[in-house]
Amino acid sequence: MPDASPYIKIETPVHSQAIRPENRFQNLVIGGLKLDNWAVMAPMAGITNLPFRFVAKKMTAGLVTTEMVSAAGLVRAQKATLSYLETNPAEQPLAVQIFGSNPDEMAAAASIAAERGAALIDINMGCPARKVVKTGAGSALLKDRHRAECIVSAVRKAVDIPLTVKMRSGWALGETVVHEFAQIFEDSGVDAIILHPRFATQGFSGTADWALIRSVASAIHIPLIGNGDVVRPRSALDMMETTGCRGVMIGRGAVGNPWIFQQILAICHSGCYEEPSLAERKRVILEHHRLLENHYGPKATSRLMRGLMLWYTKRLPHSSRFRGAFTGIQDLPDLVRGLDAYFKFLQEKKI
Ligand SMILES: Cc1cc2nc3c(=O)[nH]c(=O)nc-3n(C[C@H](O)[C@H](O)[C@H](O)COP(=O)(O)O)c2cc1C
Repeated sequence: MPDASPYIKIETPVHSQAIRPENRFQNLVIGGLKLDNWAVMAPMAGITNLPFRFVAKKMTAGLVTTEMVSAAGLVRAQKATLSYLETNPAEQPLAVQIFGSNPDEMAAAASIAAERGAALIDINMGCPARKVVKTGAGSALLKDRHRAECIVSAVRKAVDIPLTVKMRSGWALGETVVHEFAQIFEDSGVDAIILHPRFATQGFSGTADWALIRSVASAIHIPLIGNGDVVRPRSALDMMETTGCRGVMIGRGAVGNPWIFQQILAICHSGCYEEPSLAERKRVILEHHRLLENHYGPKATSRLMRGLMLWYTKRLPHSSRFRGAFTGIQDLPDLVRGLDAYFKFLQEKKI
């Protein structure tokens, strides 16, 4: 690629000057685990596999998490479920997220994950997917305080590594349970709460209610990690500044944009950050492809890459013109051809 500099500098954002120094440099500590970056990667089913986590980690994500793993599948030693626990020292500390509705099964699953290298266990109380909720797991637990409490207590007894709960505001609009539940979880020995402040019935509609992050953060003594709608590095600092949360979890904003984690650190240290050049984007995309191919083989990699390329190009100009080239990827040469054509187009347009 002709552009030599790996990054394009973005001028100091004016409002980042308002970030208090103590916030910029604060450490996120969960249980005994001290993280290098308070911006962490969200668990995402079908996305946060080992290769993806490795890319996020290299871009300085403070913590990476598996996608949600079925406790029942782990306890029954199902091969496909166990494969979600595969890890590598380079991505540690790794959080393993488990879901289920049976306290004994959840406790046993947490032990299995810890034995296989999890540095932290996260309990899913946020997933609104019908196939999860109908078993009483995920966000359905927000309707069943007693069961939620039993699960947390059983998992807490089973493992001595840090434990978090990732939850939504409540089940349905107006049924906010997070204050009550977070207090119970803190009393049960949970080390941090992760809050995506939407109701389960909302899915991803509307906006995340950051005011709720603020009110829960001030009510509990363990760290609250805020999550929801952070798509730019500066919005992570805005979330921290306006809510007082101790960490920020990023999901969709980091898919296809793993640079966001190092950009956040850059703003903390210098007040500005850099956008990756086209050459840097190409380097990371090809690295991601290589990692996927090593892990899953060529056929599955092409399928995964077709989806990922839509994320990698989502916020870039004129990407819809090249969508066909990316959704038709069959192999690595197809990917390189599509990328080169698109980036050449952008360079010629001087974008
Ligand atoms: C495709 C996809 C898969 C997800 N899978 C999970 C999951 O396995 N476990 C979980 O707790 N949340 C899951 N989430 C929710 C995210 O972790 C996060 O809470 C949500 O996307 C809001 O954060 P964001 O606005 O930064 O994306 C998923 C979200 C998406 C879009």
